[in-house]
Amino acid sequence: MQERQSIHGTWASRWVFILAATGSAVGLGNIWKFPYITGEHGGGAFVLVYLVCILLVGIPIMMGEVLVGRRGRCSPINSVKETALESGLSSRWQLLGWMGALAGFMIFTFYSVIAGWVLHYIAGMANGDYTDIGRDQAGSHFEALLAAPQTMLIYHSIFVVLVMLVVVGGVNKGLERATRIMMPALFVLLLLLLGYSFTTGSFGEGLSFLFSFSLEALTWDSVLVALGHSFFTLSLGMGAILAYGAYMPKNASIGGTVLTIGILDTVVALVAGMAIFPIVFANDMDPGAGPGLIFITLPVAFGQMPGGQIFGFLFFLLVGVAAWTSAISLMEPATAWLVERFGLERLPACLLLGFAGWAVGIACLGSFNFLSDFTLLGMNTFDFLDFVTANIMLPLGGLLLAIYVGWFLKTRVVESELAIAKQLHFRLWYLVLRLVSPVAVAIIFALNLYQKLA
Ligand code: PHE
Ligand code: NA
Repeated sequence: MQERQSIHGTWASRWVFILAATGSAVGLGNIWKFPYITGEHGGGAFVLVYLVCILLVGIPIMMGEVLVGRRGRCSPINSVKETALESGLSSRWQLLGWMGALAGFMIFTFYSVIAGWVLHYIAGMANGDYTDIGRDQAGSHFEALLAAPQTMLIYHSIFVVLVMLVVVGGVNKGLERATRIMMPALFVLLLLLLGYSFTTGSFGEGLSFLFSFSLEALTWDSVLVALGHSFFTLSLGMGAILAYGAYMPKNASIGGTVLTIGILDTVVALVAGMAIFPIVFANDMDPGAGPGLIFITLPVAFGQMPGGQIFGFLFFLLVGVAAWTSAISLMEPATAWLVERFGLERLPACLLLGFAGWAVGIACLGSFNFLSDFTLLGMNTFDFLDFVTANIMLPLGGLLLAIYVGWFLKTRVVESELAIAKQLHFRLWYLVLRLVSPVAVAIIFALNLYQKLA
């Protein structure tokens, strides 16, 4: 196949791709979700399983996604189709891309609701609302937010607009420009906060919660959550990384690049845990508090510490920026597809998707108030979307992608696109992608199903 070009643009350099993909990966998953699910699943053992999943499943599959994207140079749906045709396969493989687009859309709807909470907290911190706030007050503050659909709607809407403003600019004028500004800011904020967390008490207690492995605490359910989270946190299984891979310069090596992204995402999650749990323990709070963890515990802590108002503001700013760069990547695949399929300009494509995501988002924010009685499989809309995407659709999408790249694409194509210098490294990756990752995902799925039915 002759060298293809993306009609949407190409990143200016390998580093821009790394920053953009890291921007996608580092998000609410790292700073909001990872700490609270780690808390709910008892700490250390869960973290260990999560790390194993990143290494044996996440990183190999991420390489597969980037490879398909760069080979196909299109939106995920069309890149899968083009690469399938190139290897003499049925174009029906594009269904994989369809499932991904759907998952991305579903994630976007609840993601922007949480991001809306974050915006509310940025404003509250700036305003000094949390100064000297007590534990109970912080709890009722968060509950009051959840009980106020209008407030949530305002912030949810602002977030959707912020995201679409970037996506509408396209790869170079939108995504790349935002990445170049926001990612360095994100790293600076993170370092500032890490420095700050050293000065708080209970640092050791926080560390031992994160890193002491007591396997009794682990259930198959925790293993499924850890697996699902490894897909969620690396933005895998729904086409985000595949879409970004389509804009990757030809000469950059996929292996080293993906490893860098995976390490950065993991480091951010662990640092976020190291910043948050000491604060939780220093204030005698419950690490298993659930989704409200960073919204209830942290304001209390920041409210009492010297400089807390500034650091609290910076903390929520960090979370907001991280959520923003991730949400952009949730919308890019479908936007690119609308442009390719219907020849739309970016603006109408973004208006269409933004509006749809915003509207479904209203059902998510209603889960906490006016729609709280509406349940699917015993879960409210918000929990349902989170569960079905992170624990089922993303792992399933990743599993199918591993099978597609590992067993169906021509080895010659895969090998030349990856261009790994050392044969041994290629063989090792290929083996993991063909056997280890699919088998691991399949076993975890099967055991869970068995448990649920038995
Ligand atoms: N990786 C993002 C996070 O950790 C979430 C995300 C998932 C973004 C899938 C894009 C695609 O918050
Ligand atoms: Na992440």
